[in-house]
Formats: sequence, structure tokens, C-alpha cells
Amino acid sequence: MKSKSKLTVLHTGEEIKAVVTRLADEITQAYAGKCPLVIGVLKGSFIFMADLVRNLNLPLELDFIRLSSYGCGTESSGKVKVIQDIITPSEGRDVLVVEDIVDSGYSISFLLGYLQKKKPASVKLCCLMDKPLRRKVPVPVDYVGFTVPDKFLVGYGLDCAEQYRNLPDICVLEESK
Ligand code: IMP
Ligand code: MG
Repeated sequence: MKSKSKLTVLHTGEEIKAVVTRLADEITQAYAGKCPLVIGVLKGSFIFMADLVRNLNLPLELDFIRLSSYGCGTESSGKVKVIQDIITPSEGRDVLVVEDIVDSGYSISFLLGYLQKKKPASVKLCCLMDKPLRRKVPVPVDYVGFTVPDKFLVGYGLDCAEQYRNLPDICVLEESK
């Protein structure tokens, strides 16, 4: 029999909004007097990025980077590649990376190293969700929205095989018979 997917809301759109406001306030204070280069990691961060930057009371520039992904529900191999780079020069800039979720840590650990080679003044990481139980490599996360359980999550930008990104809530996706 074909299995069906079950969605259970973990964080509502309203809860996400409150967390985004809290993160934006922290970042606005931390970057006062600066003009950060905010880099969103595609595709998962696109909704979070759009909401976050609209709450930052700062001059800023933004760009996007895309990394190889590993599809739905599979383990990260730890081999990460840049498949679409930023265009904005980042040497000497205060870079803030915006990510949807840190899971094994392989992607972001690779990305932070990759960006460091471009000689920015600073690099910090803001992730909406942190799944610490899955961590394989340590990652310094500067700004965290939610700490989440070891479940596969979709919605608010996160996908499973490119579906569910448009859900307004963050949901747990389970296969049920
Ligand atoms: P990593 O395992 O930390 O390298 O995670 C890499 C990427 O996998 C994240 O940036 C997400 O885009 C995606 N990812 C990790 N966990 C989930 C999840 O629960 N749902 C959807 N995407 C996820
Ligand atoms: Mg991501």
C-alpha cells in the first residue's frame, strides 16, 4: 500500500513571527553603525530571509548562495559544493549568513570556511532552527530562532523533494501507512 504523509504543526506562523522579530532586534543592535552583507542560503532560507530583513532597522545589502542539497529525508554525505555563488564582493564586509536549519552542520561548516576565504571583516550565522541532536560537526551559531527535535521538518521555506516550502507554519512530516 502506498504510504501517505502526515503533517503536524510544530511552530505556527504567529510563533515564527515573534521569533523573527526577536532575532531582528538582536541583529539590529549588534550591527548598529554597520552595513552588513546579508547572505541567504538557497532555497530553504528564502522566506525567513524576506521576513528577517524587513525587520532589520539597518542599512544592508543582500545576496544569495546555493549549495548542493541532498533531497528528502536522506543523510548528508558531508560533501558540499557551491552551485550558485554570491555576486557581491565580500572582502572587508560584515557578513551575516541566513540559514533555515542547521542539522548535521556539514553545509554551514563548509560555507563558513568558503566565505572566510573571501576575506570578510566578520562572518556570523543566523539560523531559524537548530537541530543539535543531529550534529556531526561543530558549528558556531550566533543567532538561533528555535531549537528543534530530531524530526523532518517542512514549511516556511523548508521542503521535502521541493514540496511544502509555501506552508506558513513549520510542520513535522511523517510517513503514515
Ligand atoms: P546540514 O545537515 O546541517 O548540512 O543541513 C543541510 C540542509 O539540509 C539545511 O540547510 C536544510 O536546507 C536541509 N535540512 C536539514 N534538516 C531538514 C529538515 O528537517 N527539513 C528540511 N530540510 C532540512
Ligand atoms: Mg538550508
